[in-house]
Amino acid sequence: MRNPFISHLYGLAVLIILFQSSCKESSQKTLEVPESTCLTGGMVVSAHPLASQVGSDILEQGGNAFDAAIATQLTLAVVYPRAGNLGGGGFMVYHTAEGASGALDFRERAPLRAERDMYLDPNGDVIPKASTLGHLSVAVPGVVDGLVKNHERFGRLPWATLLQPAIDLAENGFTLTDAEAAKLNDYQVLFSVMNDSDMPFLDPDGNWNEGDSIFLPGLAETLRLIRDQGRAGFYQGRTAELLLAEIQSGNGIISQADLDLYSSNWMESLNGDYRGHEIICMPPPSSGGVALLQLLKGMEEYDLNSLGHNSAASIHLMTELERRVYADRASHLGDPDFHDVPISMLLDSKYISSRNSSIDLTKKTDSESIKKGDVELIESMETTHLSIIDGDGNAVALTTTLNGNYGSKVMVDEAQFFLNNEMDDFSVKPGTPNMYGLIGAEANSIAPSKRMLSSMSPTIVLKNDQPYLILGTPGGSTIITTVFQNILNVIDHGMSIEQSVNETRVHHQWLPDKVFYENGGLEYEVIQELEDLGHELAPKPLIGRVDAILIEEGCFQGIGDPRGDDSAIGF
Ligand code: DON
Repeated sequence: MRNPFISHLYGLAVLIILFQSSCKESSQKTLEVPESTCLTGGMVVSAHPLASQVGSDILEQGGNAFDAAIATQLTLAVVYPRAGNLGGGGFMVYHTAEGASGALDFRERAPLRAERDMYLDPNGDVIPKASTLGHLSVAVPGVVDGLVKNHERFGRLPWATLLQPAIDLAENGFTLTDAEAAKLNDYQVLFSVMNDSDMPFLDPDGNWNEGDSIFLPGLAETLRLIRDQGRAGFYQGRTAELLLAEIQSGNGIISQADLDLYSSNWMESLNGDYRGHEIICMPPPSSGGVALLQLLKGMEEYDLNSLGHNSAASIHLMTELERRVYADRASHLGDPDFHDVPISMLLDSKYISSRNSSIDLTKKTDSESIKKGDVELIESMETTHLSIIDGDGNAVALTTTLNGNYGSKVMVDEAQFFLNNEMDDFSVKPGTPNMYGLIGAEANSIAPSKRMLSSMSPTIVLKNDQPYLILGTPGGSTIITTVFQNILNVIDHGMSIEQSVNETRVHHQWLPDKVFYENGGLEYEVIQELEDLGHELAPKPLIGRVDAILIEEGCFQGIGDPRGDDSAIGF
C-alpha cells in the first residue's frame, strides 16, 4: 500500500509518534569514559557501535580516514536506517596529513520536474505533509556519488574492501539496540501506510525488541552492485530501475535524467579563525559554516570565560548572537549556484561589530524588531555525524542525513533503502517554517537541480596547524548552535571533550523567539534570571548528538554522545 493521501488520522499519528520519540530519547545514559591511555593509531566516532567498529577495523587494516569514513557511512546505511543512508545526502570537510583542507558536497538536489510552488494548493497555502512524507518529498540522492568521488580522490584500500562489512551485515543480519527497536516501533504505522506489507522494518507483531535480528538481503544486493559497478550500481541498472519504480508508484517526480545528472562537488572549505585556532567548515549550500563563523567572530568581542558556563549572562550573550545570525540565515543563505550568497559581507568584521552593537547585555532584543515572522519548532528528527582521525593525521568530519527519521518513510522495494524527505529543507513558501521551524526567503526557494539549504556543520578545528577538534551533530536547526557551544566549551571554558559533550545545551534560532534548553539541565536561578532579562524559555528533551574527537599532545580522545548509541572506537 503506497497511498500518497495522508488523512488527518495519520497526521495525528505523526504527532503522537514525535511526542513518544521525544519522551523515549530523553532518558540519557551514563557516559562510559574510556581508559586514559594515549591512542595514536586511529579513532572513529559515529552514531552506532557496529559502524564505529567497522571504521576502526578499516584503519587497523591500513586504510586512511577517508576509507574509514566510507566504510562507516555504508555500515550506518545498514544498521542505523533512521539516518545512515544510501538515499540521502551530506557534506564532508577534511584536513590531510599534508596540511590541505577542503570539502565535499553530496547534498541532494531538487528533481528536474520540481517547481517553486509544488507544495502549495491553488490558494497558495502549504499542502500539509506534502514536502515531508511520501514520494513527492524525495530529492535526488547524493550519498553514493559522494562516496565514490571520495574514494577516487583519497581512498587507499580497494573500494570493494570498504563495501564488504556493510554487505555482510545486511546479508547475515544485525541485532537491534534498545533505542533502535523503540524508534522502529514509533514508526510502524507510517511504515505500513507508505510501504508494502513485506517491508523488512515492519514487525509482524508491531513490536521490535532489543536483540531482535534484522536481515536485509535486498540491501546486500544493492551494496554488491555498488561494490562491483561503483556509481552505476546505484544511478543505473537494477537499483535505478527499482528506485524509479518506487517513485512512480507514488506521486514522485524523480526521473532517470535526474539520476544521470546528479554530481557531487569538491569545494574549498570555508575557513576562519577563533582565538588563535583555525576553523575549517562547510560553505553553502550549508548555512552551517557561515553561521558558525559569524557566531564565533561575534563571540570573540566578548570575554565569555569570565561570564561562566551556562550562567544567565553567557546564555543571554549566546542567544543574542544567535538571534542575529539566524535572521541573516533566513534571508541571505541558499544554493550559491542559484543565489548570490554575500559570504564576505556576512563575515566582515565591521558588519559583525555593527550587528553586535545592538546587543544589550541587560535585556533581550525582540526578534520581531530584527525581522518579522512567527513559527513553531518541531524537534526529534534525525541526521548522523561521524568524526575520524587516522594515525597519519588525516582528519574527516562527515554529516549525512535523510532529513526526518527514516526520511520520507518510503523504502525502495527490493533494494531496501529509505528515500530522503530533503525537499522540506527548501523554503516551500517564503516566510513559512519548515519542520525545524526555520523560515527562508527567495534565496532558498525551490528550482530544478537546486540544492536545499542545510544546517549540517561538519567542522575541524586546528591548533598550531594540526587537527585539534573534529566534531559535528544531527539536530536540524540546532546543529549550528550545538557545534558552536562545544567549541566554546573547549576553547573558552577549558572543558575536556567528555565534559563538553555531556553539558546541557541551549539553543535560539531568531524565530520562534524562545531560548530552548535541555530539560532539567539549567539551574532554577539561571532560568529566572533569563526570564528577568525578557527571554521566554522552553525545555526540550535533548539537543543534538555530538560525535567528537579531541587531539591533545598527539593522543586521540573520542566521545560518542551518551544521548544516543553513539560510540568512539580507537586504538
Ligand atoms: O540539512 C539539514 O539541515 C537537515 N536536513 C538536517 C536534519 C537533521 O539534522 C535531523 N536530525 N536531527
